[in-house]
Amino acid sequence: MLNLNSKTAVSTKQLGTLLLKLVEEGLAGNKQRLELLALNATRSLRADSPDLASALGSLLAKFAGNASVLRLRGASPPPADADAGLALLRIQPVDDAKEPVLAHGVQHRIERFLMERAECEKLLKEGFAPPRTLLLKGMPGTGKTMLAKWIAHKLGLPLVVLDLATAISSFLGKTGSNLRRSLDYARATPCVLLLDEFDAIAKRRDDATEVGELKRIVNVLLKELEDWPLHSVLVAATNHPELLDPAIHRRFDVVVEVLLPGQAERESILDRACGRFAVTLPHGFLVAIARCLDECNGSEIDTLAQSVVRRHVIEGEDLTRCFVDAVVFRLPRLRKEEVAVLSRMLKETTDLTVREIAQVVGKSSSAVQYQLTKKNTKRISRRKSHA
Ligand SMILES: Nc1ncnc2c1ncn2[C@@H]1O[C@H](COP(=O)(O)OP(=O)(O)OP(=O)(O)O)[C@@H](O)[C@H]1O
Ligand SMILES: [Mg+2]
Repeated sequence: MLNLNSKTAVSTKQLGTLLLKLVEEGLAGNKQRLELLALNATRSLRADSPDLASALGSLLAKFAGNASVLRLRGASPPPADADAGLALLRIQPVDDAKEPVLAHGVQHRIERFLMERAECEKLLKEGFAPPRTLLLKGMPGTGKTMLAKWIAHKLGLPLVVLDLATAISSFLGKTGSNLRRSLDYARATPCVLLLDEFDAIAKRRDDATEVGELKRIVNVLLKELEDWPLHSVLVAATNHPELLDPAIHRRFDVVVEVLLPGQAERESILDRACGRFAVTLPHGFLVAIARCLDECNGSEIDTLAQSVVRRHVIEGEDLTRCFVDAVVFRLPRLRKEEVAVLSRMLKETTDLTVREIAQVVGKSSSAVQYQLTKKNTKRISRRKSHA
């Protein structure tokens, strides 16, 4: 095998060996091996032949970064399961993608991932591959699917979704061939491939009748993760990272945990969901509401705010009232101390008078006044019992 790590200038013999290897992989149509060889060669040539290394890196970047070069190929329709006639892959529009509200650290990691993809030519010229695979793990409703769509939008690539939970049953008994066909399609077309509900594979491993088949599927995925082409991004999303095969977990270039929203994120999600109505609310009101919604995920907060705004628009009910009703509904048996916490939050963070707060929480002014003067009220942390 060619030793391109040598400090001496690359000899004609070495270049000849490399050329033969490249031609062999090229003729065999093995694009991933070809890319890997070119990448290693770029790294090794960097010191002695910087111009050649740079030209090689640019060539790699042309095909890895410029999706349109490859988009011309692989324009065939996505594969469908032969029996069920189901489309195994869904191509989703991303023009309308919205940026999820993320904790600062998470946002930073995603921005870095996007930057490394955007600057892939710089990396390739040095012989390093940009990140190709990303594992998003986190609790349900924290915005993982939304984030995958946003990433596709930012990269200017189509989003191709393979929902493993629903598709896996059609794979079983078919030696993972359907999975391979789907993945082949995604590899041939520059895209962001989202493997949603990724843990479905791990979960099903408990079932003894399916062990052999699932092992094959896991092996297919391991191979895919190692060989994923430069021009596409594979994003896997899971609620149960602890169930994943450790070998799979290790193979991802980047792993990001999408967290439950903190106070600042909850406020932003509420603010965004209220749209133009946000400015009509008393100052600090959404801060108070956000505090009442600790432990909620982004999806729950967004859904709550949307339904509140709909009620306000359709029924003409006061928006603050609608919000408090919705919060009270989440905490169905509102105890005295919870009324007190809510009243106190409203008092501390809004301009509402005691009378207005009493109206909002549905109690008498004297009851609210009493609660406000009481000391040591506990924080609301009870979760909605009938989500
Ligand atoms: N961080 C967030 N910022 C803004 N909106 C959010 C966020 N998280 C969730 N949402 C809202 O909730 C909806 C559903 O979120 P999404 O499906 O992306 O969550 P998920 O993490 O993929 O959930 P699951 O694990 O159940 O698949 C989003 O379309 C969005 O409206
Ligand atoms: Mg999801």
